Amino acid sequence: MDYSELIKMAEEAMQKAYAPYSGFRVGAAVLSGNGRVYTGANIENASYGATCCAERVAIFKAVSEGEKRIQAVAVASSSEETVFPCGICRQVMAEFGNAEMKILCGKSKGEYEVYTLGELLPHSFGLDRAK
Ligand code: THU
Repeated sequence: MDYSELIKMAEEAMQKAYAPYSGFRVGAAVLSGNGRVYTGANIENASYGATCCAERVAIFKAVSEGEKRIQAVAVASSSEETVFPCGICRQVMAEFGNAEMKILCGKSKGEYEVYTLGELLPHSFGLDRAK
């Protein structure tokens, strides 16, 4: 699966965003360790703290289907500027991906920047410390 295909799936997933409060629409596509793709969109709530980001929706879909590892996450948004995953989503990525996993941060349609999780979340808190 090439990166441009994954970012396209994130862009498509963005169409399903439920973002009546912020108006900021986000889509995500997760490539699992098994090579399957799971998509998600942000889902907001009148009680703002109950909002869930697109990345976590997609990762939780994957994990709830039995996936244990993720290889890459693509994120797209309604903004023309590069979208970066929030801190909570980076921490969730660290639970299921390694420092080398790729994060494709979308810009304007079809364009993206590639980072590793290690770059976006250095010195992460992991399973080994939490036990
Ligand atoms: N949001 C995401 O879905 N992913 C991100 O990486 C950043 C923020 C959503 C949450 C909320 O619905 C809206 O964007 C504004 O914060």
